[in-house]
Amino acid sequence: MKGEGKNPAADAVFIAPLVPEDVERVSALAAGIWRTHYPGIISATQIEYMLAQRYDPRVMREELQRDDVWWDKLLAGNEIIGFSSYFLSGPCEMKLDKLYVRQDRQRRGYGGMLVEHACAVARERGCSWLVLAVNRNNANAISAYGKYGFKIRGAVVKDIGGGFVMDDYIMEKRLQPPMNADERR
Ligand SMILES: CC(C)(COP(=O)(O)OP(=O)(O)OC[C@H]1O[C@@H](n2cnc3c(N)ncnc32)[C@H](O)[C@@H]1OP(=O)(O)O)[C@@H](O)C(=O)NCCC(=O)NCCS
Repeated sequence: MKGEGKNPAADAVFIAPLVPEDVERVSALAAGIWRTHYPGIISATQIEYMLAQRYDPRVMREELQRDDVWWDKLLAGNEIIGFSSYFLSGPCEMKLDKLYVRQDRQRRGYGGMLVEHACAVARERGCSWLVLAVNRNNANAISAYGKYGFKIRGAVVKDIGGGFVMDDYIMEKRLQPPMNADERR
């Protein structure tokens, strides 16, 4: 019989907030994605430096305690296959700080799902803009952000310590205000 023995719930992909128990798994997932994706864009030493700066479990746990930073995980069944994080970067602005989908699950719309979710949280917080920084040589991500409605606002070279810089485009997406109760009816 078609679909026999298959649990449809096992295939469901959904977003949930990251919790402290996920930190080690997401830190390892980030390391795997970065070491596959970033060679050719930044040096191996910069990859390790930035992983330590951004994905050390202690750093992640501290961020999870803040109420102006959000971390989401993308789950396929019990497996974490992607994640995002974003924070309030101004009175009307949310910054999408991280967006990652494991290589074997890319190009299925999951990155778009994570961005939509970040947009919804940003709108609820009264933000009019979702902004981000993306390496100027990260062509696939720039293409994805264009598809999600982001436009390039400018470029910036940022010193991140350790003798490294981030050579980024700043991209932005205008957010529509959330519908009020009357509009929803
Ligand atoms: C960017 C990223 C989060 C997008 O997630 P995703 O689930 O693959 O994205 P979606 O399926 O929603 O959209 C895919 C789009 O991404 C772009 N893209 C992703 N992989 C690509 C590839 N190998 N070649 C060309 N374009 C690619 C395309 O615009 C693609 O649209 P298309 O499939 O209609 O051509 C994911 O590719 C990723 O984790 N990349 C590596 C890490 C990274 O660069 N993160 C962003 C840091 S700023």
